[in-house]
Amino acid sequence: MTPYSNMTRQALETELTAVRARYAQLQALHLNLNMARGKPGKTQLDMVSDIFNVLTPDSDFSCDGMDVRNYGELCGLPAARRYWADVLGCRPEQTIVGGNASLQLMYDTISKAYTHGLLHSPRPWCRETELKWLCPVPGYDRHFQVTEAFGFQLIPIPMTETGPDMDAVEEAVKDPAVKGMWNVPKYSNPEGVIYSQETVERLAALKPAAPDFLLMWDNAYCIHEFEGEFVPFPDILSLCAQAGNPDMVIEFASTSKVTLPGAGISVLAASEANIAYLSKLMGVQIISFDKVNQLRHVLYLKDKAHTLELMRRHAEILRPKFHAVLDALDREIAPLGIASWKRPHGGYFVSLDAMPGTAKRTLELCRKAGVTMTAAGATFPYGKDPQDSNIRIAPSLPPVAELEQAIDVLCVCLKLSALEKLLEQ
Ligand SMILES: Cc1ncc(COP(=O)(O)O)c(C=O)c1O
Repeated sequence: MTPYSNMTRQALETELTAVRARYAQLQALHLNLNMARGKPGKTQLDMVSDIFNVLTPDSDFSCDGMDVRNYGELCGLPAARRYWADVLGCRPEQTIVGGNASLQLMYDTISKAYTHGLLHSPRPWCRETELKWLCPVPGYDRHFQVTEAFGFQLIPIPMTETGPDMDAVEEAVKDPAVKGMWNVPKYSNPEGVIYSQETVERLAALKPAAPDFLLMWDNAYCIHEFEGEFVPFPDILSLCAQAGNPDMVIEFASTSKVTLPGAGISVLAASEANIAYLSKLMGVQIISFDKVNQLRHVLYLKDKAHTLELMRRHAEILRPKFHAVLDALDREIAPLGIASWKRPHGGYFVSLDAMPGTAKRTLELCRKAGVTMTAAGATFPYGKDPQDSNIRIAPSLPPVAELEQAIDVLCVCLKLSALEKLLEQ
């Protein structure tokens, strides 16, 4: 295969005819495949169904001296707080264990800062004249939507191999209107980048102009390797405290991709001062989260070491799916020089950069051939990718055979849109 950039116009036209014919064949299959969202596949969900057997009507529902079925313990079942402290490397008193979605805890944190302010806020964020938020790009669309919903101006910060461009971050936080930053420090969504130790230390040591600047530390994929051994991660709470910023960070995680996204447990971890402040506000909103499910999780997952064993079994299911995607891209697309992509070792996504100006068209072609992907631009603030290039591939949901078909379609669509672009020039 010759790189498209080395082909004559005539050769490109011949190739276009061949690729169009292949696309028509694929359309005739009337496929209905989905690589849009990072959902665990059915095999993964079935694998953890035993979690429903750890509690039965005859179970002893008492734990830590309380009946978990009743009201109480706003910050979570003590055993669940110990569990998360073990996973995250912090102390149980630094945690609040929530319901099934960490995203809800994240939204709620921003919402409370907006209505009431944070521990060091001179005033609630709603009383500020200007609000800005740092968004590493490409990033997670739902993060961007949360801060967009509260009227923040979203400022893109380029991602590098070692995490967000720290020179850009250090410069940006000199502006007092910059109130915070989204972070997915391990296996970032979508690129699968792990922040380097230096990046994490520079973030922990930031000296922002805003006294209530907040690092939203979404450790969604902290134990989610599908390739290789578990990679330890630093405790951001300790690092911020050591750097003199004990209250500048709030960390989040959940068991959405450990047990069940629809019925897992989530956690918020922060300094004890932050926990006291936030739980006081939360106490008006809720008496206690679902402690029955928290107990079920503690009994099923036990501790970090036992959870990592389960994660290795998830990895066995996920690895062939990621390989199917990467192998197809290596085989079909790499020799043509029309896209580049990262090779993550964990997380739920492959991030692909198509030829600039072709991402939207590629995904439109995919849709017309029955393959749904995350919308083009979704990985950028306001859904607008200035290069129209980034495509997020989520290989986890379809079974391998379906995934192979879906990726086949994506490869043909990448070729088609690249050829159209080159020939229009
Ligand atoms: C980075 C990141 N954070 C959070 C979530 C959602 O987490 P939860 O199910 O705990 O709300 C996702 C889901 O894809 C994610 O990719």
